[in-house]
Amino acid sequence: MSALHLPTWQARTRTGGAASDEDLVRFQRPILPPVDEIERYFAASRAVGWYSNGGPCHALLSERASELLGGRPVVPVSSGGIGLILALRALVGAPRPQRTEVLLPSFTYAACAAAIVWCGLEPVFCDIEDEGWHMCSAGLADALAEREGRVAAILACSTFGTPVPTVQAAEWARLAEDAGVPLVLDSAAGLGAVGDGPLPDAEIFSMHATKPMPIGEGGLVALRDPDVAERVRLLANYGLDEDHVAVTVGLNGKLDEWHAATALAGLDQLDGVLLARRSRAAFMRRELAGDPIRFQALAERSGAQFVPALLRSRGARERALASAQANGIGLRAYFSPALHAMPAYAGYERAGGLEVTRRISERIISLPMANDLTELEIERIVTCVKDFG
Ligand SMILES: Cc1ncc(COP(=O)(O)O)c(C=O)c1O
Repeated sequence: MSALHLPTWQARTRTGGAASDEDLVRFQRPILPPVDEIERYFAASRAVGWYSNGGPCHALLSERASELLGGRPVVPVSSGGIGLILALRALVGAPRPQRTEVLLPSFTYAACAAAIVWCGLEPVFCDIEDEGWHMCSAGLADALAEREGRVAAILACSTFGTPVPTVQAAEWARLAEDAGVPLVLDSAAGLGAVGDGPLPDAEIFSMHATKPMPIGEGGLVALRDPDVAERVRLLANYGLDEDHVAVTVGLNGKLDEWHAATALAGLDQLDGVLLARRSRAAFMRRELAGDPIRFQALAERSGAQFVPALLRSRGARERALASAQANGIGLRAYFSPALHAMPAYAGYERAGGLEVTRRISERIISLPMANDLTELEIERIVTCVKDFG
């Protein structure tokens, strides 16, 4: 293995010391910001005795997240999944008899299809493309043409938090505009990995414990239109106006002050976290590069929640997973099965074939990642997977 110079990660919060290299390499080993750094922000909430419903930390987080996300209005919410529901509801409204379908890739996380169904809409699964594993633009165009008048929204994903290539993002935006439907982008793992394509109507980020900026549970919704942002805020607070009267059917999607304070402390260290994770992911990819192992296009621009890799066959994937289990390495296989093959969603329609989704989901593996993954741990992961390429 070639020499590796990883940025060190000073995790003041880890209790029980660093993991031993004989230990299990967990799939994720989240590091939350130190409590004293969280407390530094939370003191403002304590001072006014205000712990939820848009207190000082929530307000500051809205501002700082907006700066990070290109000046768009941002609403902090209780999870990425709730953010998806709120964004869809704010943009589509209550279901109408005609337009009930939402186009989405099947190669994504269950939160996407769940959000659509919770909004009273129907998921329709589309294929992805072979390089970036994002929703295929040609397939999306065909689906919109074939289903004209039935589509209520497009829910695309920046798969694994990897930015969508500019041309592809522009095609999605144009197709949505031509069809007169909103474009929601799920960038759950993409905080800090902002692409340069045109902005979607809503973009969702997760701060779940397993994401590059973990707080436990939490999410951010970035909106293009300030009026839609207001609607998301209203919906996240039971639809209650300033007089505490429900003017629409909402839910509790608020991010509380402690988690907002954790996110503020997380933002302070985000650059260092991204550097630590990206350098480790790049090193792993270099060590494993070459036929037949393949990686996602533009992976180097992601926040490296984990390292997705494509093996040569389903058999190779199954052997790699078995070997990882025997060697104490927490390998996973996201997104396998794809959503259209899961019992909860198998009954929903598909727009066109899902050949690329099938091909990729049966060969994909997800390699572990952590801010403080050691050289020896990386060596163990690489050694375990290399033989199965
Ligand atoms: C692609 C994708 N979308 C949405 C979510 C949901 O985010 P949360 O766990 O914050 O609800 C996740 C979470 O893993 C995800 O991976």
